[in-house]
Amino acid sequence: MTDTLDATSAQAVRPAAGGLKPYEARRTFAIISHPDAGKTTLTEKLLFASGAIRQAGQVRARGEQRRTRSDWMEIEQKRGISVSSSVMTFERDGLTFNLLDTPGHSDFSEDTYRTLTAVDSAVMVVDAAKGIESQTLKLFEVCRLRDIPIITFVNKIDREGRDPLEILDEIADTLALDVVPVVWPLGMGVDFQGCVDLGQHRLIGKDGAPGRAIAGDIDALSEDSELMANPYAASAIENLQLASAALPDFDVEAYRGGHMTPVFFGSALKAIGVPELLRAIGDWAPAPRPQPADPEPISAASDDVTGFVFKVQANMDKNHRDRIAFLRLCSGTFKRGMKLRNVRAGRDLAVSNPMFFFAQDRETADEAVAGDVIGIPNHGTLSVGDTLTEGKAVKVTGIPNFAPEIIRRVRLSDAMKAKQLAKALNDLAEEGVTQVYRPMIGADWIVGVVGPLQLDVLATRVQNEYGVPIAFESMNYDTARWVASDDAKALKDFIAANRSTMGQDRHGSPVFFANSRWALDRAAKNYPDIRFLATREMG
Ligand code: G4P
Repeated sequence: MTDTLDATSAQAVRPAAGGLKPYEARRTFAIISHPDAGKTTLTEKLLFASGAIRQAGQVRARGEQRRTRSDWMEIEQKRGISVSSSVMTFERDGLTFNLLDTPGHSDFSEDTYRTLTAVDSAVMVVDAAKGIESQTLKLFEVCRLRDIPIITFVNKIDREGRDPLEILDEIADTLALDVVPVVWPLGMGVDFQGCVDLGQHRLIGKDGAPGRAIAGDIDALSEDSELMANPYAASAIENLQLASAALPDFDVEAYRGGHMTPVFFGSALKAIGVPELLRAIGDWAPAPRPQPADPEPISAASDDVTGFVFKVQANMDKNHRDRIAFLRLCSGTFKRGMKLRNVRAGRDLAVSNPMFFFAQDRETADEAVAGDVIGIPNHGTLSVGDTLTEGKAVKVTGIPNFAPEIIRRVRLSDAMKAKQLAKALNDLAEEGVTQVYRPMIGADWIVGVVGPLQLDVLATRVQNEYGVPIAFESMNYDTARWVASDDAKALKDFIAANRSTMGQDRHGSPVFFANSRWALDRAAKNYPDIRFLATREMG
């Protein structure tokens, strides 16, 4: 192979921002990683590189402010993990980047999953010393399900890490993806000498600053006497040549199809490789893609305004009990004041004060297009999974609730507060924090979560925001399944025969609780006409 990345093809796909339709200039993406790989640092440095913030450290500062406003965030502080997800918009070179933040902790994978339904591409951050870790793998699998294209950023090359060749191999083998290095490190840790940027055909200095031009051809790098005079650089180039001989050329369509990942080695902390990454997102990442929907996918080019709620964040301001629904626009040009129909509720909603979120501010959104995310303040009319349209009967699909893995009975110590408890649980279920059920026999509330941390968040928020102290009691259940059947009588009979282990979710759908995998399998065998569903479409 000669050229890992052909500069002319990269140029060819760089959009001429001036001639683009507004939605074509949107890049809506998320960063996925295992906790500690450097997602927060990279987010900050991307915002910095785009000019959206003037001083690194401000993303964290923003987080602190939010925390003091919202007590439940103490949990996040204590455990040092991010449990809230939001959106940050910034502009560069005529393009608008919408970065959707995803919580890294595995307990919040459900929330993260739903956020990934709202992006068109992702950046995967991998720690150079650790390689692909469990949470990265899980999130990657979610991306693969939706063919979300991925750019890989191998972080922390300013420290001792694993051999870049070994990391490339691991990504290729573990994720079954074609890998193509774009920014290659010349040494790592104390030996770090800078990088080669094969996209722009130039060197990157030790401090991350752009360096001199180099020959475009990887083989020709061995003739660069200045580079080869440095033993660390010479050995890194030799490895790069070895790798490139075995790897395919960069192909933007293979990347956009989710089969190939361009790989950037860098350091978020030192902002090495970050401007190059930002440029690549602008050049290669897709503009808004068609959104899976019923009866047919929604094209971003369609004139009708459509969007869906992928996240609801409640009580950002405790005094106002407000809720912000984050709406990802799929098509059309939204204008402030527009009336949109909530397809689930069959009601119109006048969206009079929508918001955009920037690195530090919120701003009224007067106009938004496909790919944009607007925040809609509401008092409980909007739930995760809702589709809003200008009128066309269409419903966005693929936004699931997952069967909970932890099921608990809610214990209320003050019986006078039953009403507040009902409201709290319902609100938080709409936000997607938890799932709530009423048993078919008995009156207690049952909650189901995917990870134990969600229970802590739930209890803290119900106490802080609704003034209701609650505790949880173990139940003899391990898992739950939504049940459905094409045969109405068979379903009725099943429910009648299993009433003591059945409940209803907040939409009234029947749920079967099982105390073991074995019990679930047995039920499935005994009732062949019943479908036991591990996920349920929201909205
Ligand atoms: P996360 O959001 O993925 O959980 O990771 P985060 O950015 O918080 O980074 C985790 C730790 O890794 C932080 O150190 C951060 O400074 C460090 N880090 C991130 N990128 C790089 C890098 O390119 N090189 C090096 N050497 N370190 C990096 P910490 O000590 O846990 O936190 P802090 O006290 O520095 O904030």
